[in-house]
Amino acid sequence: MKTSLRDLTCADARTTDAGRTVSLSGWVHRRRDLGQLIFLDLRDRYGITQVVVDAQEAPDAHAVASGVRSEFVLRVTGTIATRLAGTENAKLATGEVELRASAIAILSSARTTPFVINEPDAEIDEAVRLHYRYLDLRREPLQRRILARGRLVQAIREVHHAAGFVEVETPLLIKSTPEGARDFIVPSRLQPGNVYALPQSPQQMKQLLMVAGMDRYFQIARCFRDEDLRGDRQPEFTQLDLEMSFVAEPDVMAWVEEMAIAVSGAVAPERPILQLPFPVLTWREAIDRYGIDKPDLRFGMELHDLADAVRGAGFGIFDEALAAGGRVVGLAAPGMAAATRKEIDELTELAKKAGAKGLVWIALPGPGAEGGIRGSIVKAVGEERAAAIAAAAGAGAGDLALIVADRDIHAQEALGKLRVELGGRLRLADPRVLAYVWVHQFPMYQWDEENKRWDATHNPFSGVMAEDEVLLETVSGDPYRPSPEDPAGRARALQYDLALNGWELGGGSIRFHTREKLSRSFALMGHSPEQQEAKFSGILEAFEFGAPPHGGIALGVDRWAALLTDQTNIREVMAFPKTSSGSDLMLDAPSPVEPAQLAELGLALAPRPAKG
Ligand code: AMO
Repeated sequence: MKTSLRDLTCADARTTDAGRTVSLSGWVHRRRDLGQLIFLDLRDRYGITQVVVDAQEAPDAHAVASGVRSEFVLRVTGTIATRLAGTENAKLATGEVELRASAIAILSSARTTPFVINEPDAEIDEAVRLHYRYLDLRREPLQRRILARGRLVQAIREVHHAAGFVEVETPLLIKSTPEGARDFIVPSRLQPGNVYALPQSPQQMKQLLMVAGMDRYFQIARCFRDEDLRGDRQPEFTQLDLEMSFVAEPDVMAWVEEMAIAVSGAVAPERPILQLPFPVLTWREAIDRYGIDKPDLRFGMELHDLADAVRGAGFGIFDEALAAGGRVVGLAAPGMAAATRKEIDELTELAKKAGAKGLVWIALPGPGAEGGIRGSIVKAVGEERAAAIAAAAGAGAGDLALIVADRDIHAQEALGKLRVELGGRLRLADPRVLAYVWVHQFPMYQWDEENKRWDATHNPFSGVMAEDEVLLETVSGDPYRPSPEDPAGRARALQYDLALNGWELGGGSIRFHTREKLSRSFALMGHSPEQQEAKFSGILEAFEFGAPPHGGIALGVDRWAALLTDQTNIREVMAFPKTSSGSDLMLDAPSPVEPAQLAELGLALAPRPAKG
């Protein structure tokens, strides 16, 4: 990549170039001063080339090199030479050659950096890394991940274009589309008192593009959600957003699967995909077998229903849970039969934190182990019954059965959290494997007790499974008067999520595409006709002009990049992320606003509530 300031990048020189006079530009990665000889490792994004500055060969260059420090930016001119036998560096692509400098120009000097750039394993305080993000980005690990992310986005674009998707940009100043988070709002100067919302997703826009006849749309879309941050959440993030016309659920899933396989292969060819085609679980199966709607399938340790095994055993907690229509569920922690009292107490605490009232355990001794079956219910139900219950939970000799009794879903979810925790502790998941899994047939609504209405569990625009359409009814007969007993509570959405290694990677649905059906669903969600008009008039009106059946999905690009590069926090794959309190430490945002700017917008700040 020749430019005016260089002939080669720092990764290019080879023995075949020996004898050429060239210029290289880059940063001083490392400098070793041996007096007569000064060695400089010159670095750019592409690689490192060793520069040798000999006081006798090039006294002027040597004088300059004596004054340079780490991270100075140099242009070095010299001759490429093959290194002496035994001094090659196998770690560098350029390791068989060096550049013997004849002239050095300092293009920029550098202060001492707040952390070392050339030690990839250095532990650096994250606040410092974020403040000096441009320096962190110079370091090899972050640079490698940002480049991988670039390849991810490139691969996404290539496969979509090749499959006839049209890339359309949608506006960032829009009217709010609810996606379950708070909006970031932008006041309007031209219309004081009115605000735009930054999109939580381009949901309505992409549906309107289907009404517009675009047929297949995709976008690498920036989204904004004002919600509490976690490792897999940022206030500003990126989606691969797509929508397709004249499709049913299997069409969207098939495309996404084909695309995800191609993209994974392009970005992480060395990582095997666990199962092809991707396994598909119903939401109910996912909850019953894994206690979560985004299961990590890289390891088993499935949940088992123990109703039959515990019925009549005479253990009160189990009997009560079953009598109340609840569940008794268990799993087997492999090889943990010898767990100490302290370890079991700790697991019990974890289960309680995960929402369980308590944790029942049964340890089946391994071959050659001393003592018999142990456990919190052995006395109450007897050894034989306890062994049968443990076996029903999947435990064999040497395993520890862990059991939770509680309300349906609640019991599975609590044990599911324990499964994830144990999977991590026991290192059950192969970190190389990519375990994609589809989860679908989610409940359409969940009851919102506070507002006495149904709430979309996922996307408010999602359609309903054909056989459940008859359930979109209320006991009162009036969709505007919902109650928790409504058949609507049992309806399943045409919603599908794609999980990867225990994270929700994406979610989408086949949408309602008629005004009547969408409006009815909005009604169940407590939106009065007036509110529907105020919030959704655009899309409801559009559906009166011939909307094709359509559906789509959005995948989190940050999450995908993190999973493909083995990171547990999406900050590690974002060039300029925010802290958990939403700050940009580098540019110092958010920051106070000038009173004049507020006045122009017709705004005044309310006094801040007193702390404490
Ligand atoms: P959903 O809200 O499920 O669906 O979002 C889709 C995917 O976006 C990613 N994601 C996030 N990533 C980082 N930080 C966040 N705060 C964040 N929030 C979401 C996740 C998630 O799976 N419009 C629908 C899609 C559709 O129905 O087509 C939507 O946005 O990876």
